[in-house]
Amino acid sequence: MAADKILALAKFWRNIRPNIPAKKIRDKAVLVTGCDSGFGLSLAQHLHSKGFKIFAGCLLKDKGGDGAKQLEAMKSERLKVVQMNVASDDEVAKAVEFIRSSLPDPEDGLWGVVNNAGISTFGEIEWTPMDTYKNVAEVNLWGIVRTTKACLPLIRRARGRVVNISSMMGRMGNTARSPYCITKFGIEAFSDCLRYEMMRWGVKVSVVEPGNFIAATALYGEDRVKEIADGMWAKMSPQVQSDYTREYFDRQVTIMLSYTGGGSTDVSPVIEDIQDALTSYFPLTRYTPMDAYWWTRVQAITHLPAGISDRIYFSKK
Ligand SMILES: NC(=O)c1ccc[n+]([C@@H]2O[C@H](COP(=O)([O-])OP(=O)(O)OC[C@H]3O[C@@H](n4cnc5c(N)ncnc54)[C@H](OP(=O)(O)O)[C@@H]3O)[C@@H](O)[C@H]2O)c1
Repeated sequence: MAADKILALAKFWRNIRPNIPAKKIRDKAVLVTGCDSGFGLSLAQHLHSKGFKIFAGCLLKDKGGDGAKQLEAMKSERLKVVQMNVASDDEVAKAVEFIRSSLPDPEDGLWGVVNNAGISTFGEIEWTPMDTYKNVAEVNLWGIVRTTKACLPLIRRARGRVVNISSMMGRMGNTARSPYCITKFGIEAFSDCLRYEMMRWGVKVSVVEPGNFIAATALYGEDRVKEIADGMWAKMSPQVQSDYTREYFDRQVTIMLSYTGGGSTDVSPVIEDIQDALTSYFPLTRYTPMDAYWWTRVQAITHLPAGISDRIYFSKK
């Protein structure tokens, strides 16, 4: 299949580009947000194994969350777990001050920030309360803006890297995913603007757009989907309930539930791309760790006339 060959070629290109030598990595510190589970937890462990100094931001450090405990149990001088709710100005400022004061020389700066923390939800537009839009944006979008702004003085000093975790949903919309999609489209726009502004400072900005890895992370569990569905139906106006019908609503919830076990269970394509964005002398602007089906769909939706891609991927049922 052509898509498989293009993706293999992209991987080959990524692997042959020159990287910062391992001995220089030992001088470099990286902040990763959202390390309680999923990509963030694996990434903190992986980058630590490569020799980086890691500041692992955890939402639940102070509450004894499992991810924070797992990282603390590594008992490494090169890995510090930091309490960090990216939706809180105060926690972000405190975490960045802690990082600044822990650096051997703050004037050397921080090499990288990986903005990974994120939440997800689902629901058609008429079903979704405004609060849901605001809550998802507070973490996924404003969380990235807030964390990046707080880290930039240190990142600029190191002429370092900003790596923003977007999604394939940052390149294309989908039904019942608007609260999530608009935050990921926002990340793409923010990253482009940041990349242009940071050129004069020698800072490189990359976006990573994972495909479907739901089975491998805690982003979308069955319980969470059921909880969201119950809350959403209860808050819907009687008119919207009767227009859409409970039967149609339940069918969409069943479809969402079927996604919770789906996708790749191996997060290594995402982790390797983030590592490349931090270590390559020529990091890519966009990384697309996704399978051939989703890669083809992104290409079709972003390049074909909408009249054609709508017919291929969306129906009126
Ligand atoms: N999995 C996929 O298929 C997929 C695809 C494309 C993009 N992504 C993106 O990848 C990133 C990581 O997600 P994941 O799949 O690894 O899911 P995950 O396992 O749920 O990881 C997200 C992490 O962010 C944390 N978090 C939530 N709210 C936070 C806040 N306010 N401040 C700090 N941390 C917070 C979560 O903590 P708790 O566990 O305590 O809530 C969790 O540890 C997200 O940006 C997501 O949108 C994932």
